[in-house]
Amino acid sequence: MKISFVGSGYVGQVNAAGAAHYGHEVILVDIDPKKVDSLNKGIPTIFEKGLEGLLQELVLKKKTLRATLDLQQAVHATDISLICVGTPDKGGMIDLSYIQQVAKGIGEALKTKENYHVVVVKSTVVPGTSLNTVNVLLEQYSGKKAGIDFGLCMNPEFLREGVAVEDSIHPDSIVLGTQDEKTKKIMREMYAWAEESKFTYVGITAAEAIKYAKNSFLATKITFANEWANFCDAAGIDAKEVLEAIGADRRISPMFLRNGPGYGGSCFPKDVNAIVHAGQVRHSPFRILEEVVAVNHTQYLHLIDLAQEKMGSIARRKVGILGLSFKPETDDTRESPALRIISYLVSQGCEIKAYCPQGMEMAKEMLEERRITEVNYMNSAEECIKDAELVLIPTDWAEFKEIIPKITVPTFIGHRSLVNPDDYAHVYALGYPKR
Ligand code: UDX
Repeated sequence: MKISFVGSGYVGQVNAAGAAHYGHEVILVDIDPKKVDSLNKGIPTIFEKGLEGLLQELVLKKKTLRATLDLQQAVHATDISLICVGTPDKGGMIDLSYIQQVAKGIGEALKTKENYHVVVVKSTVVPGTSLNTVNVLLEQYSGKKAGIDFGLCMNPEFLREGVAVEDSIHPDSIVLGTQDEKTKKIMREMYAWAEESKFTYVGITAAEAIKYAKNSFLATKITFANEWANFCDAAGIDAKEVLEAIGADRRISPMFLRNGPGYGGSCFPKDVNAIVHAGQVRHSPFRILEEVVAVNHTQYLHLIDLAQEKMGSIARRKVGILGLSFKPETDDTRESPALRIISYLVSQGCEIKAYCPQGMEMAKEMLEERRITEVNYMNSAEECIKDAELVLIPTDWAEFKEIIPKITVPTFIGHRSLVNPDDYAHVYALGYPKR
């Protein structure tokens, strides 16, 4: 099939590569000429494992993937357009301006398109948006009717950063929200390579809700683990023993039950905020989720508290921070607990050296936007810990396992998966009984 992906961020680039991998002819659309240029050279503009190799093959060798600035032309040249633009958080609410812009553009293109075209909302949007915003604009700008002249589908993405390429090629589940059989059939054909057991067929608004229900459940589960770990700290219990034991119960499962300095990233924080707001607007508040947001917001402080408890005040100390991305294997530092920790330490007059295998550039940019310019960004973990009086490791990059034995000062880790603190006298972890 011929497919266009509108918006060439994480979701667009990875899904476009996945679709071209399965033999479709794919066009990526973006408004940024630099991105389009880079993609046409087979170079991704994000860091995601396996993406560069895949793009090189699809763009340069097989020539089944290309990028363009021309949305109209892309819609005319394809059978399906997937909207993959961002839906950022704007003061706790979802910002739909990119979605609206794209819906207008696709609508205008549909006006002069003869063949049936399916428009798919892949971006995360609060329930009601596909019908009340996207479809209204599509119909208004095309002068056509959904379900008759063109198809509308909501197909949420469930990609995990760091393993997004793998997730797009071998998804756990595919949710198709449609309102007519023809669109459903075309979408099933687009995913012809996937087994039937992976699919959930629902209405458009339910598909939107599924995405939020899934992400807010996982964020709640992590927050549950974090509060239990905080309690275990206070009560002198090893949180790992408790969380692993309850995770062994099949009804609970060990997934997303690891405690840490709080969840971050481009999805959980913004999605939980957006659905909390949607609940408030509809007079059906999500009281549990309101607390999840509040608890997660201060969870990073537990790592600092742990350090203060062991070392006394850490104000004006020399601190090494290892790990800036919100999780390992990604360059994404959005909503990363590490940046919250840095902001706090800067306010305490600490002298900070920071290192991250991938997240340095974005961290620097984001911190500078907040006028935090005092951080020294180092080229290696070794340089980062040199002369430090204490080391904080908020993100569990596997490569830090090697540096931990070489550190001689107190070291505070956010995730127990990194090392077993029992093995090192200088290592302290969240949810680990006090020594
Ligand atoms: C998430 C969802 O998993 C994905 O389905 C959705 O489409 C986008 O958001 P992602 O943000 O890439 O994906 O990261 P994920 O691996 O799910 O982790 C999210 C955050 O939770 C990270 O900050 C991670 O460190 C934290 N986490 C995760 C924990 O603290 N404990 C856990 O047990 C699991």
